[in-house]
Amino acid sequence: MSYYEKIVEGELKSPSVFREKYKLYPEYTPERLPHRERQLRELAQRFRGLLASPGKEMLRVVLAGSYGTGKTVTAKVFGSAIVSLAKKKGINLKYVHVNCFKSRTLPQVIHAISSGLGIPLPQRGLSVQELLNGLLEDIERKNIYALIALDEFDYFMVSNSMTNPLYTLVRLYDDYSLEKKRINYLFIVRDQGALELGGEASSSYFVRDVITFPPYRSTEIYDILRDRAQEALYPGVISEEGLSYISILEGYDKGGSGSARTALEILVRAGESADVEKRGSITIDDIRKAQVIVKPETALLQDHLESLETHELLIFLSIIKALKRTEEGFVRMGEVEKIYRQICENYREKARKHTQLYTYIMKMKNMGIISARNSGKGYRGKSTLLGINGGPLDEFEKHTEELLARRGK
Ligand SMILES: Nc1ncnc2c1ncn2[C@@H]1O[C@H](COP(=O)(O)OP(=O)(O)OP(=O)(O)O)[C@@H](O)[C@H]1O
Ligand SMILES: [Mg+2]
Repeated sequence: MSYYEKIVEGELKSPSVFREKYKLYPEYTPERLPHRERQLRELAQRFRGLLASPGKEMLRVVLAGSYGTGKTVTAKVFGSAIVSLAKKKGINLKYVHVNCFKSRTLPQVIHAISSGLGIPLPQRGLSVQELLNGLLEDIERKNIYALIALDEFDYFMVSNSMTNPLYTLVRLYDDYSLEKKRINYLFIVRDQGALELGGEASSSYFVRDVITFPPYRSTEIYDILRDRAQEALYPGVISEEGLSYISILEGYDKGGSGSARTALEILVRAGESADVEKRGSITIDDIRKAQVIVKPETALLQDHLESLETHELLIFLSIIKALKRTEEGFVRMGEVEKIYRQICENYREKARKHTQLYTYIMKMKNMGIISARNSGKGYRGKSTLLGINGGPLDEFEKHTEELLARRGK
């Protein structure tokens, strides 16, 4: 075996925290979707007619919510459930998922729909009207019913706002005297306003049937991560503390974006960082590193450090040192204060009083450099818990000490 083969083999053989890594990727449909039951039920209610009286009317529903809130995955899960229920009733229902980011024009969308339905259409030479005719004739002949999800529909609207293709799609049956309305739509958007670009006539078609996907709260992200970690990681690889650290970073109620996508990405990167160091478990510092990769804007926080006053820097350094002593994401303010007094002695600075420290801390919290929250239940007594935003501790520590040194400290 060559020298290089040995290196490569060594890496391939080294243990990994991932049992089935792909189960953390966005394309994978998880076994469970915690906190999306309401949306799933609402979808079922609004599409009742698909099974009860297929072809009677064209059903249209909008799914709206910011990124990473589970719109795509919920649509797919609903699609496959309703298709298999239809089958049991002898209804030939097909679910087609079209990504409008990839198919940006009306002809492209029509082609994507037809290939999803297994209906070949000529690639060239036909007008939109002719394409639609061909499609409608074929599904009539094959006795197909279709539920078509137009995902990332915002993109479609932006690139077509002048020609109003939405109108063509929703008014599909107005130009035909077909007995059965076999096409139904699920429009998926981040911003509901996108639909208004289609003009009054088409947007008024929607207002009734919007299902909202609110950004996830931190407890919800926690549940999602716990489930996905169970599917994809070896048992015990990540602690509860680790999962809750990510969910606090991302939880909407804690100032995060509320995106399950970002939370899962952080988990993947943190696992990779543990793998690189062949550790077999994910630490809080792995998560901090991952956060900077996934959300580069958090790295910019380092730049803000320069603008801090000396005692703010000293407090920041104390938080880092306190965090380094534990394996946890947050430390109690009392701990930080103890270390701060020690550090002040080392730097020959007069330590500030508690109330002053608190003011500094709130200022740094508002700048987004640190996070501060109430301990709530679970900790002895009530206390303020402090953590830092972004970056592995060692780097931050070094950077802060350099800044202090530059100021002659
Ligand atoms: N409730 C949930 N349970 C488990 N996994 C979830 C849940 N919600 C979202 N996810 C996962 O989070 C990731 C992002 O979800 P999804 O792609 O559905 O978001 P989206 O709302 O379509 O976002 P975007 O607008 O960016 O396309 C996927 O990996 C998905 O499986
Ligand atoms: Mg999506």
